[in-house]
Amino acid sequence: MRKAKIIFSIQKLEVWTKTKKVVDGVSFNIKSGELHVLMGPNGSGKSSLTLALAGDPRYIVKKGKVFLGTKNILKLNPEDRAKEGLFLAFQHPVSLPGVSLVNFLRLANNAINKEHMPLLVWRKHLTGMLEKAGLSENFVDRDVNVGFSGGEQRRVELATLVTLRPRVALLDEIDSGLDVDGLKYTAKIIENMRRQGTAFILITHTTRLLKYLAPNKVYVLKAGKIISGGGNELLTKIDKEGFKNIRVFKDTRNKKS
Ligand SMILES: Nc1ncnc2c1ncn2[C@@H]1O[C@H](COP(=O)(O)OP(=O)(O)O)[C@@H](O)[C@H]1O
Ligand SMILES: [Mg+2]
Repeated sequence: MRKAKIIFSIQKLEVWTKTKKVVDGVSFNIKSGELHVLMGPNGSGKSSLTLALAGDPRYIVKKGKVFLGTKNILKLNPEDRAKEGLFLAFQHPVSLPGVSLVNFLRLANNAINKEHMPLLVWRKHLTGMLEKAGLSENFVDRDVNVGFSGGEQRRVELATLVTLRPRVALLDEIDSGLDVDGLKYTAKIIENMRRQGTAFILITHTTRLLKYLAPNKVYVLKAGKIISGGGNELLTKIDKEGFKNIRVFKDTRNKKS
């Protein structure tokens, strides 16, 4: 197998809202096909990091760089970040009244994959994909996220992920609201896409989904800083003791990777 290259590099990122610093010097590198898990208690800055990477104007990047391949994506608008191959699944996805799922995903697929499937072919393709994600055919014509349960929103997000085949996917609490079958399905999708080269950053505050996955690295974020990094032993500790006993230590391994 060829040696995987660093595909996504966050370098000393500092993000502020109007009033306070929410991400405080976060750095990490991820290679194609890797899975990195970012954990941390409520309010530690996990979603702020995701939203800043998406280009949400409420989150102001004051310092740092973020490279997707060789491009510093902080200079790009959100659409162009997606076109470069960045996919973000938000903890609180927006609903789009008046926009059906079939049209929304068709437009996204056209724009990002430069594919122009005829509507009927696309409809059939999407129906099959939604069925695999555990959603019935009638979701195709429903407005995006309008009245969807938490679990249904996650499943739509997963179908979108499979459609867009990104280079890097950042999933913010994709496990919340999912039942056991949903968790297993999510893990299967992540592992399949990793084999195709997609790099994943999974953000969560529980270890529920991690039973079904094999992460390369685990980080703990607290007050906007990565305070600890490790492997499965860190997950076991968090599972047993929560975040309170996680001590600050330098993750020297990540510096070189
Ligand atoms: N748009 C915002 N305006 C003001 N404060 C915010 C905003 N977004 C996040 N925060 C605050 O920043 C901190 C980190 O929030 P968040 O990134 O959502 O944490 P997490 O996702 O780790 O639970 C919290 O104290 C939250 O209240
Ligand atoms: Mg959050």
